Amino acid sequence: MSDTNSPTQTPAWARLTELAATARDMNLREQFEADPGRAERYTVTAAGLTADLSKNLINDEILDALIALGEETGVAERYQAMVAGEVINTTEGRAVLHTALRRPATDSLMIEGDDVVADVHEVLGRMAAVAERIRSGEWTGATGSRIRHVVNVGIGGSDLGPLMAYRALAHYRESIECHFVSNVDPTHMVETLKKLDPAETLFIVASKTFTTQETLANASSAKAWILDGLADADASEAVAKHFIALSTNADGVGEFGIDTANMFGFWDWVGGRYSVDSAIGMSVMIAIGADEFGEFLAGFNDIDTHMGSAPLRENLPAMLGLLGIWYRNFLGFPSHAVLPYSQYLERFPAYLQQLDMESNGKSVHLDGSPVDHETGPIIWGEPGTNGQHAFYQLIHQGTTVIPADLIGVINPAQDVGGQHDLLIANLFAQAEALAFGKTGEEVAAQGASEGLISHRSFAGSRPTNMILADELTPRVLGQLVALYEHKVFTQGTVWGVNSFDQWGVELGKELARGIVPELTSDDELDHDSSTNALIRHYRATRRR
Ligand code: F6P
Repeated sequence: MSDTNSPTQTPAWARLTELAATARDMNLREQFEADPGRAERYTVTAAGLTADLSKNLINDEILDALIALGEETGVAERYQAMVAGEVINTTEGRAVLHTALRRPATDSLMIEGDDVVADVHEVLGRMAAVAERIRSGEWTGATGSRIRHVVNVGIGGSDLGPLMAYRALAHYRESIECHFVSNVDPTHMVETLKKLDPAETLFIVASKTFTTQETLANASSAKAWILDGLADADASEAVAKHFIALSTNADGVGEFGIDTANMFGFWDWVGGRYSVDSAIGMSVMIAIGADEFGEFLAGFNDIDTHMGSAPLRENLPAMLGLLGIWYRNFLGFPSHAVLPYSQYLERFPAYLQQLDMESNGKSVHLDGSPVDHETGPIIWGEPGTNGQHAFYQLIHQGTTVIPADLIGVINPAQDVGGQHDLLIANLFAQAEALAFGKTGEEVAAQGASEGLISHRSFAGSRPTNMILADELTPRVLGQLVALYEHKVFTQGTVWGVNSFDQWGVELGKELARGIVPELTSDDELDHDSSTNALIRHYRATRRR
């Protein structure tokens, strides 16, 4: 998109700029008083998800203009281009087809003469067979013991997605316990392995490229641990029985020493942060079984279908994306909080950080021209109620407005002494408090002393999306993830950026490769004075 094609040049952008001038002072109490049907009118449903969007700083005029922006920037058209396999990741020359990973086996999608849906189901079938052998105990380690622990070794999308889903679906987990090692910090692997027995442990090396420094380093140390712990077994049998790989790079897997018969592949049209529903989800499949994993995929597909068919006004991912643009570009709010009221979703905000910030943390349009507008916000969050006792103070009374998604599950997998109702009461109370606040008069009426009135008042009109699910099933989790994938897609499309590359992570990797040998040598240093001094300090202080 050239500058003249920037979204800032659309009529809708100009209209939203006008509307923003007054919207900053919008008072949600007044909006609700003036419009008794507001909650109902601004509720949007998608598959098993219901979202109350009424506590946003919007009215019908603003919504109309946001929808016009989505139309003028071609959100629906670009979505169709994506799911059809067009090469929309232009900087890497790739199609973007994570939606093909969850299409039913009865579908087909021909790309360059190949049915990619059939390819996906071929891999899913192989994954299911191996997952079942591991779950049933038929797959044994080199000493004949059954596998009781699986360690996923991967980072970024090869860690965040499976870890998030494994935790979210803990209730569905059966006998096998999964662990996730991502950090190149050796303490991560060492602490994880402390309580594990090599004879009962299977490593899954998860890396799309199979070139990622952190993952290869951890996989090597895992291999050494297995070979050391199973010294009586034949080394190649130990590796064959204790390692499987998830990757697009068969050569890299072979070079590492993992039999490619134990490799589950995917394709370059799956971005790392969009890969939890590919072979990268193997640890989740082992934990919950292939049938439930199929449900997880069906949930993604529910939202894909919704995204591809619902008009923008009733399209939940698109609406969340457009509301985010309203706050980021027109009201100037720099961050967005995701606050799940579900301990099972404890890793969901971390997962979304990569999905959103690696996708839309961009400063140039598709054609390389610099953007003339803000792009991706800072995404962050923690589960409620914990966050309430940590950072909600700032959300309620700080000087920065932080729009938030509040996510709740109506029917709990576990309930003890009515605690779930307590959790949900907190969820609803937070949305109410943020939206409607507490005036000085109300504070005074409760007997507060004059000097404390301003301290104890809440301005309100702090926006939230309330997203509710009936139950946290694998299917609903798939729906939630796809909801955010397509929210991010909507925003990237409006901004005209490439949401599917990640060049911004490369420079640090490149420089780290140069610094590694410098830490252990006495060679002259040729960095800036700060980096040189840091390296010298490390050399002098590091005990070996
Ligand atoms: O460095 C960023 C990144 O490329 C992510 O996009 C990706 O999820 C992660 O690294 C891990 O990559 P891989 O799966 O190839 O090891």
